[in-house]
Amino acid sequence: MTDATMHSWLERARRVMPRGVTSNFRDWGPRSFVVERGEGPYIWDVEGKRYIDYRLAYGPIILGHAYPAVVERVTEAVQRGNVFAATHVYEVEAAERLVRMIPHIERVRFSGSGTEATMHALRLARAYTGREKFLKFEGCYHGAHDYVLFSTASANPLALGARSMPIPYQAGSGIPNGIRDYLVLAPYNDLEHTERIIRNHGRELAAIFVEPMMGNLSGIMPKPGFLEMLRSLADEYGIVLIFDEVKTGFRMGKEGAQAYFGIQADLVIFAKALGNGYPISAITGKADIMDLYRGGSVTHAGTYNGNIVGTAAAAATLDVLEQEDVFGTLEQRGRRLMEGIDDILTRLGVPHRVSGVPAMFGIIMTDEDVYDVRTYKAADMQLYAQIAFNAIKRGVMFDPDPREPWFLCYALSEGDVEETLNVFEDATKEALGLSATVSTTAASVLERSGS
Ligand SMILES: Cc1ncc(COP(=O)(O)O)c(C=O)c1O
Repeated sequence: MTDATMHSWLERARRVMPRGVTSNFRDWGPRSFVVERGEGPYIWDVEGKRYIDYRLAYGPIILGHAYPAVVERVTEAVQRGNVFAATHVYEVEAAERLVRMIPHIERVRFSGSGTEATMHALRLARAYTGREKFLKFEGCYHGAHDYVLFSTASANPLALGARSMPIPYQAGSGIPNGIRDYLVLAPYNDLEHTERIIRNHGRELAAIFVEPMMGNLSGIMPKPGFLEMLRSLADEYGIVLIFDEVKTGFRMGKEGAQAYFGIQADLVIFAKALGNGYPISAITGKADIMDLYRGGSVTHAGTYNGNIVGTAAAAATLDVLEQEDVFGTLEQRGRRLMEGIDDILTRLGVPHRVSGVPAMFGIIMTDEDVYDVRTYKAADMQLYAQIAFNAIKRGVMFDPDPREPWFLCYALSEGDVEETLNVFEDATKEALGLSATVSTTAASVLERSGS
């Protein structure tokens, strides 16, 4: 295929879809691209160029693109229909596996996306507690519904106010002003201010929403004691603690963040990796909260909830996660990448730190202590974006926005990892030579709020 192919596809896309995309985060300006297909750890663009893929659709592809065991199950399932407005065997199978695999999960309800699941979890927590406000952390992303689109990772750190009294930073127009009245914000990883803020609002809060690791901010890990404190304050004030595991689920191990950190949440949200890229999310948690749905007094509905494509994919994905050493493999490959990148940047004299876990890690280009969206301003995001575009040119695709972690899939081979490290080194050397002339494209992809 020729250069005109990408150009003409982009032109066609832009004629019919604003910015040529169906999610704002996918617009990379002049460097936007159109994908043709994916297989295993690779994707191919419409010009036939192959990339080792570390974006993996912002995380869901845990096994690999078009992973055979999942494709087979979905193909077999869809030949017998997709939605029935009735419980289906695949739904039961997927829910049973979740209850078996994830500690403390007693009940499951399925939805179509992470956004829907966090929206429903918030409603459930409000119904359970009889309270209307909720606490959200700066720098966390919980989907694209109005309640949570404040102070996400793209918020301007200078506009966030004092740590003791954070000011909500709205992610774009179209969100009713009054919605702020329901929101209490706290700075992630700041134990002192968070404790004070929760104590000030304790009896008004229905829920504490938290990404147990910052999946939309370079995989920044929680400081020791942070999640423990949330658990104990939630108990003290009768607040529902909600772990948003849309990104961390099945990436921090097959039992999720609760097992990784040894902390039990009241509700846990899964999406993305649950279905290896097919549309499904799950609201899961303790029976006494989830059983509020029993009386029909709390609305949870959706034509596509529990659809066969999503639930068959989830059942197949969870089977592979249970039966094969997926996490041993991800751990080994991810560790090699984290250490290899660390070594390259150290040798080339680029200040940096590597955060996160092997299946999902971030690179923050600074030697300052970065632990939240406020301190993140120390990171050199433009140098990182330039390295990413240089790597993409060479066939290794990680997101040019450093807030988006690298994601690994089970199909990634040792050879792919070595190729990636070679490309990363060349891409970094080129960027250092050119670092004064960072493109405006690099700057434009950094205007985002989550994925
Ligand atoms: C932590 C987290 N929660 C919720 C969502 C929203 O999920 P979805 O894009 O499926 O609506 C995302 C998306 O990236 C996410 O990272």
